[in-house]
Amino acid sequence: MAAAPTFYVVSGSTVKGVIGGNRDLVFDAVETAYRLHSAGSSINPDSYFLRYPDEPRNRIIALPAHLGGAIQKSGIKWISSFPENTAANLARASAVQILNDSTTGYPLACIEASLISATRTAASAALAAEHISPDPFAGSLCVVGTGLIARTTVEWLKLRGWQFSQVNLYDLNQGEAERFRKWLHEQYNVQAVVKNSLADAISGSSLILFATTALEPYLADAKLLEHAPTVLHLSLRDICTDVILASQNIVDDVEHCLKARTSVHLAEIETGNRDFISGTLVDALEKKFAIDLNRPRIFSPFGLGILDLAVASFVLDAAIASKAAIAVPDFFSNSARW
Ligand SMILES: NC(=O)c1ccc[n+]([C@@H]2O[C@H](COP(=O)([O-])OP(=O)(O)OC[C@H]3O[C@@H](n4cnc5c(N)ncnc54)[C@H](O)[C@@H]3O)[C@@H](O)[C@H]2O)c1
Repeated sequence: MAAAPTFYVVSGSTVKGVIGGNRDLVFDAVETAYRLHSAGSSINPDSYFLRYPDEPRNRIIALPAHLGGAIQKSGIKWISSFPENTAANLARASAVQILNDSTTGYPLACIEASLISATRTAASAALAAEHISPDPFAGSLCVVGTGLIARTTVEWLKLRGWQFSQVNLYDLNQGEAERFRKWLHEQYNVQAVVKNSLADAISGSSLILFATTALEPYLADAKLLEHAPTVLHLSLRDICTDVILASQNIVDDVEHCLKARTSVHLAEIETGNRDFISGTLVDALEKKFAIDLNRPRIFSPFGLGILDLAVASFVLDAAIASKAAIAVPDFFSNSARW
């Protein structure tokens, strides 16, 4: 007789330990998830947005997903974004990931997922940067929006071996940029410069990371990118249509990214077509289109639930193996049908 599985809870500190001790395997898990998705071994329905009419900046998003291949798990990430939290030194985003067994459908675990989410976002950005840059691992960096995602992405770029000749920082809240500057110095002995304007920060940078919380695009001057940098557009809504159209655009998944009023979605609405998208990141990895070094290359990842699922599945296996996952006895007290 089949028994209900043991249900586990995995805390944030366990997640942190597993990810910190297995960076290369986590990076591989992200790339594998993208490749499984590209090969059709995944189900990644639309994300569901819970929004508050009176508080339009706040939202909670559900990201259901299934991965086949060697992973064979389903699950859902439930992630809140409340930007005002940061004023009280509380993270903007908080999240849990539920994993389900794909044979019985039973929930297997509830895992703290804010770090998983930031990690998969940062690792996927680092993967893209390596494959769409003319001179990977070198050049100058500009960070626009110096919050948690920017910090995690810089960590992953450094882990992958990037060395920057210069780092410019820009944030609407200069105090945040200053904190980021201090962190870069303490962590990596990197001397970054906080700039007073977006134009100054971007000027000449070969790798530009957008990780703001902007809701409407504001980067309208295509001249700012005429030096053809690599752009990691993680916050998705910073770049105006004319600049998008003057660039080579690479996404994680075309259908997903052309939704929810992202910059590329707005470009599609304005032009009535998708011709400005060259392909996905996996298409770039598989050299299905040529990287255009004469134009800015903008990677806009919508953020797929399959990535959270892949990293969470890796974390759960490692946490169970090291006995750090907390088993909840009798979680399914009524699982026998009769
Ligand atoms: N694409 C993905 O897969 C993915 C995944 C996770 C998070 N994100 C996005 O990354 C972004 C950053 O997340 P976070 O957790 O670091 O947020 P955060 O609140 O920690 O940091 C955001 C920073 O951006 C600054 N900012 C806001 N608007 C700005 C602007 N117009 N110009 C310059 N700075 C600006 C804020 O002052 C803040 O310091 C969010 O938009 C989030 O939705 C994307």
